Amino acid sequence: MTNILCIGAGYVGGPTMAVVAKHCPEHRVVVVDINAAKIAAWQSDQLPIYEPGLEDVIRCARGRNLFFSATDIGRHIAEADIIFVSVNTPTKTFGQGAGKAADLQYWEKTARQIMENSSSPKIVVEKSTLPVRTAHAMERILNSNNNGLHFDVVSNPEFLAEGTAIRDMEDPDRVLIGGRETPSGQRAVQAIVDIYAHWVDRERIITTNLWSSELSKLAANAFLAQRVSSINAISALCEKTEADVAEVAHAIGTDSRIGPRFLRASVGFGGSCFKKDILNLVYLCECYGLYEVAAYWEQVVTMNDYQQARFVSDMVTAMFNTVAGKRIALFGAAFKANTSDTRESPALAVCRALLEERAVVVMSDPYALDNARADLGEAAEGVVFEPDPYAAAEGAHAIAVLTEWPQFAELDYEALHASMVKPAFIFDGRNILDHRALFAMGFNVYAVGRPPLTSFAS
Ligand code: NAD
Ligand code: UGA
Repeated sequence: MTNILCIGAGYVGGPTMAVVAKHCPEHRVVVVDINAAKIAAWQSDQLPIYEPGLEDVIRCARGRNLFFSATDIGRHIAEADIIFVSVNTPTKTFGQGAGKAADLQYWEKTARQIMENSSSPKIVVEKSTLPVRTAHAMERILNSNNNGLHFDVVSNPEFLAEGTAIRDMEDPDRVLIGGRETPSGQRAVQAIVDIYAHWVDRERIITTNLWSSELSKLAANAFLAQRVSSINAISALCEKTEADVAEVAHAIGTDSRIGPRFLRASVGFGGSCFKKDILNLVYLCECYGLYEVAAYWEQVVTMNDYQQARFVSDMVTAMFNTVAGKRIALFGAAFKANTSDTRESPALAVCRALLEERAVVVMSDPYALDNARADLGEAAEGVVFEPDPYAAAEGAHAIAVLTEWPQFAELDYEALHASMVKPAFIFDGRNILDHRALFAMGFNVYAVGRPPLTSFAS
């Protein structure tokens, strides 16, 4: 039996360890967090995150070989053979690198905590997304202990996407494990390979050196976000030229060198990681004096900010240059469908901008309203949170679709139109609705990357 510990029970730590525990019944997996309320939720039937398939995996392993704890973290560290660290690594908000660099304080605290509570050698696994060469700093901290203990640091970045986390863990495109090319480093890599080999084919487990592994995570997110910004850049040109971005995406995506996925034009990408990780990459490039490389990647974020701002500005222009006092129903708060996560959600950016325009904002979402309220902070006071989309749209001048929840496409838009102020507007920030049908019902329809369908002469 191997004692596996995961420090950090968030969107990554909870689901990944649940899948590890499910497939490795002979190992004992403990997940700890300093947030006692979150741990209590992991121990209950009301899990702290919404993720399809998660409940089943938790039910299979919890209490058998999967345990959640907010106490005795020191003892759990002492007992562990392998420690995954999956704490948050947000963008730094202060001091050197503020606004771009990763804030590594939680990571470093964890490393010191591991050192202080260890009386046997351990493998420490970087699960969090970190700047390339963080492992070097970690090795130095951990191996500065006074007991002569040796710690091996392994990089095993996580590629799951929220909303499909369990599927991504169960059937990953690849698992990436980076380690030192020393005998001890290679033994540590093999120990992590052996865990994943319980359910992942060996040829999909890639092993590299430490730095390639750390950098590949940042690069993967940068490439993914770059595709979204690329198609969003094209969407702006489509709107000027009567080209249809969905047709363009299909036409270019059939080229096998480009591929069809991740080409959905939208109100912009959100989520806790794309922006943070690209800015982290930008900062790293700047630190190494690679200013052109930094500027290249920063443009991916600039384009995303532009897309969100453009969406709101087009709403205001379309609605006769003012939304002040007008009720606007926002369909969606989550940064994507199938998650309750609202971190960096474009829906919140649109909401804030509309509040600045003094609109009366009503937000509807099947799972994410609590997080939206928390993430909006003081601005939440000016927002009505309404789970029922029909009630949200009643008496509204406009609906804006901001999350691609399939249930929003299935609503009775005839009924919604009847309950709204005329002329009624729909702004489809996810292109999930039948725009021609909506136009036929009497809506003025604005989509991303498509010419508007309106009853007004242009
Ligand atoms: P999260 O904020 O949901 O979870 C992090 C958890 O770590 C929190 O619950 C926090 O209380 C806990 N924590 C912080 N310091 C601690 C300490 N000293 N001891 C114990 N617990 C501590 O974050 P997340 O979304 O799970 O992301 C974690 C890391 O994984 C980040 O680096 C992120 O970039 C990366 N990542 C996230 C995703 C994703 O989909 N969310 C996917 C891949 C990688
Ligand atoms: C992303 C990556 O896909 C994961 O591989 C990675 O592990 C994770 O970031 C991370 O490091 O946190 P996630 O942010 O959960 O996962 O979700 P995505 O499916 O990548 O979507 C990100 C954003 O892009 C969402 O707002 C989504 O709506 C938007 N998006 C995505 C588009 O606007 N168009 C697309 O074609 C695809």
